Amino acid sequence: MVTEIKQGIWSVGALNPAMRVFDIVMCTEYGTSYNSYLVRGSRKTALIDACHRSFFPQYLENIRKICPPEEIDYIVLNHNEPDHTGALAALLEEVGSAAIYTTQAGALYVRNITNRTDLDLHVVKEGEELDLGGKTLRFVPAPFLHWPDSMFTALPEDKIVFTCDFLGAHYCEPYVFDHAMAYPAKYKEAFRGYYDAIFGPFKKYVLAGLDKLSGLDFDMVLTSHGPVLTRGEKGMLDWAMEQYRQWSAPTSRDRKLVPVFYTSAYGNTRLLAQRIAQGIREVSGAEAELYDIIDHDLCKLCQLLNESDGFAVGTPTINRDAVLPVWQLLSGVDAIGCQKKPFVVFGSYGWSGEGVPGVAARLTSLRMKQVGEGLKVTFVPTQEDLDKAEELGRQLGQAVMG
Ligand code: FEO
Repeated sequence: MVTEIKQGIWSVGALNPAMRVFDIVMCTEYGTSYNSYLVRGSRKTALIDACHRSFFPQYLENIRKICPPEEIDYIVLNHNEPDHTGALAALLEEVGSAAIYTTQAGALYVRNITNRTDLDLHVVKEGEELDLGGKTLRFVPAPFLHWPDSMFTALPEDKIVFTCDFLGAHYCEPYVFDHAMAYPAKYKEAFRGYYDAIFGPFKKYVLAGLDKLSGLDFDMVLTSHGPVLTRGEKGMLDWAMEQYRQWSAPTSRDRKLVPVFYTSAYGNTRLLAQRIAQGIREVSGAEAELYDIIDHDLCKLCQLLNESDGFAVGTPTINRDAVLPVWQLLSGVDAIGCQKKPFVVFGSYGWSGEGVPGVAARLTSLRMKQVGEGLKVTFVPTQEDLDKAEELGRQLGQAVMG
């Protein structure tokens, strides 16, 4: 689908309304779009970002509606993941020669995505400009939004910034502009889900990115997923930026948050959980609530774990392993945001108790910090076991207090 955004600027990407899962792990109820933009100055033509490989035929057709691909002089890659760069190798066969502008990290990724060593790569510097003739592209690296290679590209003459994933959403309507969307409430839902999955682990970088944007003069943001964001009546650009700022702001609490997650076949792991929580509260005054994993919404527990100052996790052992609900909880760990987060592991078992060391190994491999030894108890905890559990809780409480 081709849409003129402003004079000399076209959206030429592809819509994927049928997609229901993105990158294996993200549910995408409303599909997505792979947005790409052609910018034609009086002298030169640039393509901003590309497209998913599966949509290449449609993408090429869209480009041809504006110009022959051979007329593309520059390809700007704000971010190199296959949903944006996957079609590049095929596109380059049509374009012939074009200089590729990207960041240092982006240059490495694009080589590995295209498996080409003959690319005409230009690594951009902060603030560097590229004159297309009446349209100037200005490059603003924005690392970890959400990969190391990410950057924004500003187009000051048209008050536009191209941000790729930043402020994007897996959302697909045939109406390109935010003010024309038929189902804005659905879009807002998708926008939040996208932020949580893609940018939630990078909150401090999000705030830095918003500050970088604030230093630019723009009234339109062209992302690479979802609608064009605008200012003015029914425009959602300011709303979107404010949402990112609010969601990324550091949370301030009066008390530390140290949840105790567990599940328990016969109540024995629960007994340990109760005493661990007691120990945590005793030394830290932390909010140390108990959560039987199978009784709560898993997404909410994952969120709680990721927001916590530290946590305890308890698992029985069945067939030499921790149990599925515990693994499901741990599959939602934000491994970037939880680095060095203190945790303890505990659990009752019948035969051999591999569940506790298995969970500890998993969390340690995610660079989290285990406090004390994993507490394994055979069947019903004795008074001594319960005292050990309370002591382990105290150690965790001390660790979160620093
Ligand atoms: Fe839309 Fe990070 O790729």
